[in-house]
Amino acid sequence: MESPQTLDEAAVRGILAGVRDPELGASIVDLGMLRDVEVSPDGDVRVKVALTTAGCPLRGQIKADVISKVNGLAGVRGIEVEYAEMTQTERSAVMQRARLEATRRAPDTEVGATTRVIAIASGKGGVGKSSVTVNLATALASQGRTVGVLDADIWGFSVPRMLGVAGRLGAAKSATTKGKIEPAQVAVANLDDPAGPAGRIAVVSMGLLVDDEDTALMWRGLILSKALEQFLTDVSWGDLDYLLLDMPPGTGDIQMALSRLLPQTEMLVVTTPARNAQKVAARVADMARRSYLKVLGVVENMSEFVAPDGSHHAIFGSGGGKRLAALTGAPLIGRIPIESAVSTGGDDGHPVVLAAPDSPAAIEFRRIARLIVDELLPPVEMAGCTARILELATRAAAQLPDAS
Ligand SMILES: Nc1ncnc2c1ncn2[C@@H]1O[C@H](COP(=O)(O)OP(=O)(O)OP(=O)(O)O)[C@@H](O)[C@H]1O
Ligand SMILES: [Mg+2]
Repeated sequence: MESPQTLDEAAVRGILAGVRDPELGASIVDLGMLRDVEVSPDGDVRVKVALTTAGCPLRGQIKADVISKVNGLAGVRGIEVEYAEMTQTERSAVMQRARLEATRRAPDTEVGATTRVIAIASGKGGVGKSSVTVNLATALASQGRTVGVLDADIWGFSVPRMLGVAGRLGAAKSATTKGKIEPAQVAVANLDDPAGPAGRIAVVSMGLLVDDEDTALMWRGLILSKALEQFLTDVSWGDLDYLLLDMPPGTGDIQMALSRLLPQTEMLVVTTPARNAQKVAARVADMARRSYLKVLGVVENMSEFVAPDGSHHAIFGSGGGKRLAALTGAPLIGRIPIESAVSTGGDDGHPVVLAAPDSPAAIEFRRIARLIVDELLPPVEMAGCTARILELATRAAAQLPDAS
């Protein structure tokens, strides 16, 4: 097994590049908001973060995100965060940097600054990445959330079939989104609260752009990371609470591209209980960390089979999820049983979460979704943040002499 990443100042700065100031739309590291980092040999981390304004819940958001990201690093024993308030001068400097960042950052994606991004990966094929992606997306939407699904498995796409989406994607029409691709939309009823808002899934897949798999194969020459970049920059994603990426098997460039394009991405690693499945999955988690992407958690799929008589059978072995969690230091956040409704639901475009909402697999998917929303990666709530800092800053900066 490869050794885990060293816990040092660079690792802390790297992972914190994934914390964005949702209003300024850039990472707190790029914005110069991360003032100081200290790491003790025992794994105690101290960081000092300077925040822009006082009167908005986003402050709490940034604080929570800083702690959550640092806790995702291997070897952290404790974390202490000191917050400083920016002076007016410092604030103007940050605004200027935000504008500079906006112009020179790696290709600007269409993914909103308030969208939580989760990449579902495994390293190994056939363990259930796509099933987990579509069912988690459906479970999140069934709680009234707006969820994007990007089928990043360019050549082995399966998301359209699994979500029951067909046809071709069209061009976006509004003045602001002209020239972009419009995702396919799936409305999802609110299972938690029938009177509550309905959820929605926005889907983009190579399967909705080409006529058949043979045509998709002609795209083989296309570099995977380039295709991902196009899906992130040329699709009009709109305001999403979550964006889920169904990752292709393997590791490599696509994760690197992700960390460059969407450093806020967190990885959900899927494994089976089988003895040998964890090695590859652990490598994915290790790669993610090397690219400074936090590992959100481990999901064990095909955990066991519950027979009609209620007896439990560990068909593919047992303990894989636990072992992977121990190997990676990320929490085991769910175990999905083997259930025919998962695979038939995938085959006919009716995710088990909706097709058989009372089945153990559906209940577990919904529990994981709730855990993500409530604890692991809560949606960014912009309510109450009426001060559009960047707009104000741009206006203010226009009246200020250039500081350089
Ligand atoms: N919990 C489950 N119970 C029963 N069948 C399942 C379960 N999870 C996945 N399957 C089935 O296993 C097969 C592989 O699942 P899936 O396509 O989701 O895996 P994948 O990791 O995305 O595969 P690939 O690497 O080919 O993209 C599918 O036929 C799917 O329906
Ligand atoms: Mg798949």
